Amino acid sequence: MRDHWVRILGTGSSVPEKILTNYDLEQMVDTSDEWITSRTGIKERRIANSNETTSDFALRAAQQALEAAGISPEELDLIMVATVTPDMLFPATACLLQRDLGASRAACLDVEAGCTGFVYALSMAEKYLRGGGGEKALVVGAETLSKILDWQDRSTCVLFGDGAGAVVLGLGEEPGILADCLGSDGGGAHLLEIPGGCSRFPASHQTVENRLHYIKMNGNEVFKFAVRIMEEASRRVVQKAGFSLDEVSLFIPHQANIRIIQSASRRLGIASERVFVNVHKYGNTSSASVPIALDEANKEGRLEKEGLVLLVGFGAGLTWGSTLIRW
Ligand code: UT7
Repeated sequence: MRDHWVRILGTGSSVPEKILTNYDLEQMVDTSDEWITSRTGIKERRIANSNETTSDFALRAAQQALEAAGISPEELDLIMVATVTPDMLFPATACLLQRDLGASRAACLDVEAGCTGFVYALSMAEKYLRGGGGEKALVVGAETLSKILDWQDRSTCVLFGDGAGAVVLGLGEEPGILADCLGSDGGGAHLLEIPGGCSRFPASHQTVENRLHYIKMNGNEVFKFAVRIMEEASRRVVQKAGFSLDEVSLFIPHQANIRIIQSASRRLGIASERVFVNVHKYGNTSSASVPIALDEANKEGRLEKEGLVLLVGFGAGLTWGSTLIRW
């Protein structure tokens, strides 16, 4: 038995006020509520206004999580923001968040691991605290994907949304984060990408004309990968921690598509009552998806004290990750 564990002390989340429904999208591209609902389970998503940035949502989610944890920003030793839509390429959105929170003692960095970003950051922060880096950390998943969507491409623009979720971590003597498993396959890098704007295709009139600054995705291939990897990553982490899937009290998967969630849950033998779903309200919010779901599950009283919570993510990279938590 270990002496020290890392526990989640508080959760928070924030989404834009503006709701974009499937019916609104019918007016924008050649799609239908019927297609989107039956293929993805999404009914609506939240969209930032033109002045709102990723760090704005990160800030609100972080403030809630800090308040729930009873921690002041000055107590934070580390801030990690998982995002694929930083306010700008640099400085890190975590530094902007630090400034806005007034968390003067914290070391700050962003994590870019596609939609698995939050699960990756949680793992890194847990190891930082256990390795002696400090006592308190803030881990945020935050996105404004609406700003990098091609609103003329019906195969991607109906899928994504904006928002942020956050957790505050602290060292303690009671078990918290029990185990995690992370993995990547750069061989699938081309399946989900934004090609333009960096060293491969620096921003130019031509990159803009060719719409290279928007998300490009091979949906079918990502779908097949997702179903396979959600099952594998879930089985691995539960086994690593010495438990069985029957003992998991709540499964919180990345909210990309209801068909992916249902198919993975079926393969794992986890009944729908033990699966948290909010994809119908927010669509895929990438790095923000798991922490928003975790916060909503917490606020709805679905996280039993001492129950086992299983988080699983997958996304661009390709990347995947799972975490098992004693709540
Ligand atoms: O966080 C990780 C990120 N990504 C994902 O998790 C996405 C994983 N993939 C998926 O969720 C699914 O593959 C999609 C929802 C993206 C697509 O569903 P699908 O059942 O794989 O559909 P499809 O790509 O095979 O497309 C079927 C048809 C195509 O028409 P044709 O070629 O059969 O005539 C598409 O052109 O649906 C068409 N289509 C649409 N129709 C109406 C594609 N997008 C739309 C749309 N509205 N928005």
